[in-house]
Amino acid sequence: MSKQFDVVVIGGGPGGYIAAIRAAQLGFNTACIDEWKNDKGGPAPGGTCTNVGCIPSKALLQSSEHFDHANHHFAEHGISTGTVKMDVAKMVARKDTVVKQNNDGILYLFKKNKVSFFHGRGSFVAAKDGLYEVKVAGAAEEVLTAKHVIIATGSNARQLPGAAFDEENILSNDGALRIGAVPKKLGVIGSGVIGLEMGSVWRRLGSEVTVLEGLPTFLGAVDEGVAKEAFKCFTKQGLKIELGVKISDVKSTKKGVTVSYANAKGEAQELAVDKLIVSIGRVPNTIGLNTEAVGLQLDERGAIVVNADCQTNLPNVWAVGDVVRGPMLAHKAEEEGVAVAERIAGQHGHVNFNTIPWVIYTSPEIAWVGRTEQQLKADGVAYKAGQFPFLANGRARALGDTTGFVKFLADAKTDEILGVHIIGPMASELISEAVVAMEFKASAEDIARICHAHPSLSEATKEAALAVDKRTLNF
Ligand code: FAD
Ligand code: NAI
Repeated sequence: MSKQFDVVVIGGGPGGYIAAIRAAQLGFNTACIDEWKNDKGGPAPGGTCTNVGCIPSKALLQSSEHFDHANHHFAEHGISTGTVKMDVAKMVARKDTVVKQNNDGILYLFKKNKVSFFHGRGSFVAAKDGLYEVKVAGAAEEVLTAKHVIIATGSNARQLPGAAFDEENILSNDGALRIGAVPKKLGVIGSGVIGLEMGSVWRRLGSEVTVLEGLPTFLGAVDEGVAKEAFKCFTKQGLKIELGVKISDVKSTKKGVTVSYANAKGEAQELAVDKLIVSIGRVPNTIGLNTEAVGLQLDERGAIVVNADCQTNLPNVWAVGDVVRGPMLAHKAEEEGVAVAERIAGQHGHVNFNTIPWVIYTSPEIAWVGRTEQQLKADGVAYKAGQFPFLANGRARALGDTTGFVKFLADAKTDEILGVHIIGPMASELISEAVVAMEFKASAEDIARICHAHPSLSEATKEAALAVDKRTLNF
């Protein structure tokens, strides 16, 4: 006997679990299937984000930042500590506790919202009479039936050809978050978000970190001014970043890993490291979903094909998050999950792709929303730019962190904000104001006229908005 539901969600990451909660809130009898196992074999919902992504990486970034502050910044505040030691095992155990708190939190939310949770792999069996049969292969096998299915099966790390992840020497994000001792030398392939965040963690803890990037430009998707400042900061901190490389071979032995590559000049080089993190992007995951049973359409990258409303080629089958087009971000997955549940309920769920913020949690943090200066130029948009440095912000001086700036880009005629780019302290929090402003189609002048608390980092945002009209007050 199959169990009947209105909505079955496959995948319990940020896309899936949020979709399930919203569907249940809207009155649907909802199930969520997730196969992630904790180290005891029990359920660990939350997906990549909770288990091997956003949450554990930020836990390690925080620990390593404390260590870095104690080593390099306490003295300027008059605090002397003697030699500071890092217990890596304890740091990793703390990270695991933070992950478990989040897993447990999601199980609690399922109960609270009356979402039926199934631990195991979900796969399509068949479509019959307007209903879908989905099998759960877990401790026991069960079949669920529902009119609506939301697929939120996420993504996996992309492997470099000839360098399979062994999670001992050649590490994906998973192994990179479980390194047990500070490697003397750490190699990173790919200077994207994971490479920079994880490279920063281990650099702060004392590793000699070399990042090898295939493209000739650094952080190509980031505003050029910000990317330039970031490159300067990271290299000053000690990250070695080589751009324009071509990897030819990766050899893993008991001792470590040797990467052979040609540098930007085409010269043959070799890099010997104790561990190698490969962070060259992620691929959509539909493994084991048995899409063939129902004829679900995938594109050439393996992503589920969806329209702007997250509808697949099958009636009442939806897909959200990393498994579909668009940026691979937890908050994008969540927004799509909510919107789909609302569309199933006949409401007008909406995701504004133009106002999805990006954050890179390095130090300094990098955050942006909207278009970059190079995109505006390419699109032929007439714009005005305004920039304000944290060096001229009182709170940043008091914090002892004056790196970076806030940059506004506004339409030359209407003054509407087209993009905001921040590099500096708490950029991850500051960007929210810009997102709200852009959602409400605010002009730079709107922000410039709003009272911001003093002393606060957000005054740099106000000043950058004033700078659009060339009338900063404190610079
Ligand atoms: P996932 O989180 O991947 O969840 C998919 C879930 O589905 C998994 O639990 C999986 O086990 C399950 N599943 C798959 N197939 C099946 C099946 N057939 N049956 C049952 N269950 C199945 N994004 C941010 O916004 N901010 C960050 O700071 C950030 N940091 C990151 C750091 C790292 C190291 C990594 C790797 C990613 C990071 N991301 C971050 C990206 C973020 O993790 C993803 O965008 C997000 O998790 C996507 O959510 P999702 O629900 O689509 O998929
Ligand atoms: P990424 O797309 O951010 O960066 C990959 C980098 O690897 C690019 O610079 C690319 O040019 C380079 N590259 C690709 N192939 C290469 C090769 N063969 N040799 C050398 N360099 C090569 O991907 P990453 O860092 O793996 O992260 C995956 C995704 O996870 C991100 O795009 C993001 O969506 C998400 N994420 C988000 C975070 C956040 O929001 N703070 C943190 C970490 C990940």
